[in-house]
Amino acid sequence: MKNVGFIGWRGMVGSVLMQRMQEERDFDAIRPVFFSTSQTGQAAPAFAGNVGSTLQNAYDLEALKALDIIVTCQGGDYTNEIYPKLRDSGWQGYWIDAASSLRMKDDAIIILDPVNQQVIDAALNNGVKTFVGGNCTVSLMLMSLGGLFANDLVEWASVATYQAASGGGARHMRELLTQMGQLHGYVAEELADPASAILDIERKVTGLTRSGELPVDNFGVPLAGSLIPWIDKQLENGQSREEWKGQAETNKILATDSVIPVDGLCVRVGALRCHSQAFTLKLKKDISIATIEEMLATHNDWVKVIPNDRELSMRELTPAAVTGTLNTPVGRLRKLNMGPEYLSAFTVGDQLLWGAAEPLRRMLRQLA
Ligand code: HSE
Repeated sequence: MKNVGFIGWRGMVGSVLMQRMQEERDFDAIRPVFFSTSQTGQAAPAFAGNVGSTLQNAYDLEALKALDIIVTCQGGDYTNEIYPKLRDSGWQGYWIDAASSLRMKDDAIIILDPVNQQVIDAALNNGVKTFVGGNCTVSLMLMSLGGLFANDLVEWASVATYQAASGGGARHMRELLTQMGQLHGYVAEELADPASAILDIERKVTGLTRSGELPVDNFGVPLAGSLIPWIDKQLENGQSREEWKGQAETNKILATDSVIPVDGLCVRVGALRCHSQAFTLKLKKDISIATIEEMLATHNDWVKVIPNDRELSMRELTPAAVTGTLNTPVGRLRKLNMGPEYLSAFTVGDQLLWGAAEPLRRMLRQLA
């Protein structure tokens, strides 16, 4: 059995990974070693079956070098500090990472096996040892729209995202919920009175939103009752870094011969952990919606085509319906007024599952 070290297993993505690994009994196939950046020597978690062992120091290179596989959800700073030292020391093990630091490196593969197993296989045959989870919006897009890409039908894709608070991190989720609670509390009395005037209530809510009294340490501005049309850093070309990742990572995951343009606007909304995305796709040819639906539905086990129907879309194509599941539904499929090659699509997916933890555990499973 392989010795597998886990770093950052207690954070949000790490916790989801641990939960999925227990559900799938992945720990039965490995010898897990748990690391900590701050609590070395304390008891390791019992859920992996290694009762009595203690947490190792995540900065101890000798301890890390003894591992066959390292799985880290600790974040980019940790990767930037430890990964080069480990590789420079001659360590030949497999590094599986949730952070973006190494994603675009030539000797790293972005893992999303239902979409790019062939790329992963080729990399393993070529001795690649570094496997990185993709950006959540990109992974979720490819899980939902994979059938169109696999059939080489996408000339370009334009996207508007509706990204959940969890993409920012655990503290961002808390901040959003706190903002929601404060806004509600501020007008709860009036709300309870059916005779009160809604515009008076709205004025109070807007006043509190603009007052500077809501907690905004993480998002920088209020998100509850609002949205933020920028995610991640600003690049010189006017894109946000999140928008830049769309094309860069999609083409790397698919290992395309010529670049498929992917671009759009990334927007933070008040959802908790599902990213939704509205697409305009230019197809390479005019094919029927029925054929498109068939291609999409048969691409992988998690995508589900939601017929373009009001009731079904409202019930099944929302963060409320999808959160906490591995489903990556796609719907609102119809030809647009621009012409028969122009397709609309709307996708929803849990940002912490297929958007983060699931590709990592499946890669580990392949290696173990
Ligand atoms: N950058 C994403 C977000 C996180 O902020 O929503 C997932 O990669």
